[in-house]
Amino acid sequence: MSSIPLLCSIDAVPPSADFGVAAAAAMAEICAGLMQERAEVSPKYFYDPLGSKLFEAITHLPEYYPTRTERGIFERHAAEIARSVGPGSTLIDLGAGNCEKAKRLFPALRPEHYVAVDVSTEFLHDALNRMRSLFPAIDMQALGLDFSAGLTLPHSVSQEQRLFFYPGSSIGNFTPEAALAMLCDLRRLCGDTGGVLIGVDLVKPAAILEPAYDDSLGVTAAFNLNLLNHLNRLIKTQFNPGDWQHRALFNAPQSRIEMHLEARRDLCITLPGGVRRFARGERIHTESSYKYELLQFRALLVKAGFRKINAWTDERHWFAVCHASI
Ligand code: AVI
Repeated sequence: MSSIPLLCSIDAVPPSADFGVAAAAAMAEICAGLMQERAEVSPKYFYDPLGSKLFEAITHLPEYYPTRTERGIFERHAAEIARSVGPGSTLIDLGAGNCEKAKRLFPALRPEHYVAVDVSTEFLHDALNRMRSLFPAIDMQALGLDFSAGLTLPHSVSQEQRLFFYPGSSIGNFTPEAALAMLCDLRRLCGDTGGVLIGVDLVKPAAILEPAYDDSLGVTAAFNLNLLNHLNRLIKTQFNPGDWQHRALFNAPQSRIEMHLEARRDLCITLPGGVRRFARGERIHTESSYKYELLQFRALLVKAGFRKINAWTDERHWFAVCHASI
């Protein structure tokens, strides 16, 4: 899927014309995706203010193991990870959200600079203010960026010892080809002294994966359905979430969890550029979450140009954290 480039930098808010351009690009992208025979919408549109809160709630669900498993790996192996990374880095937190994950690593990693990057700027602003009061000695900046179609950093971000922090297996929300392109981008931005610290969810049985994306409280269903409310605001549609049903299934050949919204009845949706009919049972593909074998993921890092790779996993080998450097 294509996507919009820079949305805004919180520390230097751009003129409103830029927002107009970004909004038009988002509208074109969403409409094109919905008009396809197999309708799809990029998962980045989950994250309006309510979507961000629902995602935060998902991370506390008993069925959603990735967040707590990754946290356990960071806690257990903090010293080794810090040794692998070395002190004094410029920690660039991709998809920083509430900055909680980076905050926990600060004591071990001891970064010199912190750059919080996120597409959802509402959360980021408050989170960074809290971080600044907790760690006044660390130089910090926030960037409102959509890096799903490529990452460009402003000159204000130090080039020394860049450590791209990309936890949570967000890399899994890209196709393997797009994931490789993203890792190549990061490799380029690392220069001669940088690296990436990245979390990746590993392949496991569907009986564990599917409930993680279809929990018994229905929080993930609400997260998926809320996308429709967000679209209604973004492109002025009249989706009724009640007409749709959450679906999550593991596609084993593709090694990915797929989330869909399935029409409960025949529907006719008016879009800015035309009308899209959905037959009962027809789906909108809203997210893929790829699961890797550790060897496969290491190979992807090597292909992107990283030479030294250290990896840590939990006892069940459900999740891995990799530090890849030059
Ligand atoms: C953000 N991302 C890594 C989550 C995942 O597991 O793919 C998004 C998510 N979707 C449903 N639950 C969580």
